[in-house]
Amino acid sequence: MYVVMGATGRTGHRIVEQLLQAGAPVRALGRSRERLAPLAAAGAEIRVGDQADAGFLADAFKGADAAYTLLPYELGARGYDAAQDRQGEAIASALRRSGLRHCIALSSLGADLAVGTGPIMSMRRQEQRLRDIEGLNLLVLRAGAFMENFYGSLEVVRALGFNGDAFAADSAMPMIAARDIGDAAAQALLARDWNGQVVRELLGQRDLGYAEATRILGQRIGLPDLAYVRLEGREALDALIQGGFAPDLAALYVELAHTISAGKVRSLEGRNPGNTTPTSFEVFAEELAEAYRAM
Ligand SMILES: NC(=O)c1ccc[n+]([C@@H]2O[C@H](COP(=O)([O-])OP(=O)(O)OC[C@H]3O[C@@H](n4cnc5c(N)ncnc54)[C@H](OP(=O)(O)O)[C@@H]3O)[C@@H](O)[C@H]2O)c1
Repeated sequence: MYVVMGATGRTGHRIVEQLLQAGAPVRALGRSRERLAPLAAAGAEIRVGDQADAGFLADAFKGADAAYTLLPYELGARGYDAAQDRQGEAIASALRRSGLRHCIALSSLGADLAVGTGPIMSMRRQEQRLRDIEGLNLLVLRAGAFMENFYGSLEVVRALGFNGDAFAADSAMPMIAARDIGDAAAQALLARDWNGQVVRELLGQRDLGYAEATRILGQRIGLPDLAYVRLEGREALDALIQGGFAPDLAALYVELAHTISAGKVRSLEGRNPGNTTPTSFEVFAEELAEAYRAM
């Protein structure tokens, strides 16, 4: 039995699909029976509860072979760090109570850095929390930036006619589609091919910067001259808050953007066939374009 947290979300949903397709039994966790219903119809056992509730999680983990864990958040909810720590502590406590032996934790590139990574710091703390659990076989998946982040850019493009964000135009970074993370996690769960504490990076198909990604997006949405503008300081914060970020999360995001733009968030493994995943930004941009046309 495999337990998947955040099963209605981007990575979790894909993992549940892949596991069910492989004929594996899945326990899918979420906060809403309604949102989980399609997964139940597809054959998953569903569990509805608060993912910051250690008792709920311990019950869900009981008797399972392995679990996929993550620290989801809502863009507009204040108190990002405290909420992330509450969820992280609940997961760690539930792992201890349930005696589950194999766990995947979704983390991020940059979790190796001790300062300046904004929203990634909570994943760094979670990695450490899970490393402290004796006897746990822990696989940390450190992913690059999600291509899905560009869904947020579509509103900006529609409203302003250019894409604006807090990243330097040309600082290339690994960008990955969430489905590729889901596929890698599902494969790892099925193989349970890690022992002790292991970190694997997932770097997407290639590194690219915001200017290049914006150019590709522009071509797909019929705006071949679509420009990218770097927003800084107060301007960046205001734009993020206007786009739905809670103020504390906006500040963390700007901090991360600075650190990425300075080239400090790097792969430790170096790109190789094992951490390179198939979906290119060109392919993903077709989906972005469809969403743009539907706006
Ligand atoms: N964006 C990036 O570039 C990036 C890069 C590296 C790592 N990450 C990490 O990836 C993780 C997100 O993965 P994902 O995209 O698969 O997740 P997601 O789609 O954002 O969310 C997963 C699911 O979690 C559930 N959930 C439970 N408690 C929640 C809460 N308090 N707030 C929001 N959702 C909650 C939601 O389902 P229900 O509402 O149905 O319960 C949601 O569908 C985060 O930890 C993020 O930091 C992101």
